[in-house]
Amino acid sequence: MLKLTAELSDALAQAANLILRSKHVVVLAGAGLSVESGIPPFRGPGGLWTKYGEPTNLSYREFLNDPAEWWEARFRDEQRPGDPTFELKVAVDRAQPNSGHDAMAVMEQQGFLQCVVTQNVDNLHRVAGNQNMLEIHGNRTYLRCIDCGARQPREGYHFDSLPPQCAKCGGVIKMDTVMFGEPIPEDVLLACRQQAEICDLMLLVGTSGTVNPAARLPMVAKELGASLIEINPDETTLTSWCDIILNGPSGEILPLLLKRLQKDGPAEPGNRAEML
Ligand code: OAD
Ligand code: ZN
Repeated sequence: MLKLTAELSDALAQAANLILRSKHVVVLAGAGLSVESGIPPFRGPGGLWTKYGEPTNLSYREFLNDPAEWWEARFRDEQRPGDPTFELKVAVDRAQPNSGHDAMAVMEQQGFLQCVVTQNVDNLHRVAGNQNMLEIHGNRTYLRCIDCGARQPREGYHFDSLPPQCAKCGGVIKMDTVMFGEPIPEDVLLACRQQAEICDLMLLVGTSGTVNPAARLPMVAKELGASLIEINPDETTLTSWCDIILNGPSGEILPLLLKRLQKDGPAEPGNRAEML
């Protein structure tokens, strides 16, 4: 359990104050947010890539070379203990949003934040109730056509023949999750950049800030005058860019921050249009 020191209490008050003074607050979320839901992160202790090694940038090219073989391997890997695909699937399939996701959803509902840009593919923001959300690395519960970009839920989809083909355009279907070496779908990337450009505050929650283009978004925001707040138990490559650091697990920090916001707001008008 996190100790509410005078230093942390002070930082929470400052963070709440900054949020209440901001007009457009954006979250950039990463795997650390889902750690308390039992999903391993990628880097650091217990990380998937720490354990199994990081995939190469060839992943997407390998898919394009032989999508049918890729899908066959995927179905095998999903059933194979000791494979990172299996490990992630088992963890995500049984995961529920934690108190950090829940607090973030309430922050959106109560107008304290305007958009969540997430690198997580685990669907937990949606389950928690966030609505204005950009999934920069896709969503593992969806499939996507590589030609027309159409998305559909994976559940209930019949893989009658491999590779699966798009009913709309005949293109090849892949997981919606963005692979190493695959460009982010243009519409999503553009929308994420817009959020970085228009926000006056970005909260960096549970991300190591190592994978571009997501990791560049806070820098874009900062260079255009936005403030940055980091929520993370560890230091990251983004820490030195941040104005306020809330040091601790997001499942504990976010509920504390929400409580503080509810106590201090809605005294000032600003970003809480729906509440006024
Ligand atoms: P990482 O695994 O790189 O970083 C996780 C971050 O979460 C680290 O900075 C940890 O210190 C922090 N962390 C750990 N426990 C936490 C907790 N309880 N609360 C808050 N933070 C905690 O994950 P990402 O930055 O999301 O890409 O990684 C970015 C991308 O790399 C992922 O989206 C994935 C991966 O390859 C794709 O799947 C395309
Ligand atoms: Zn298509």
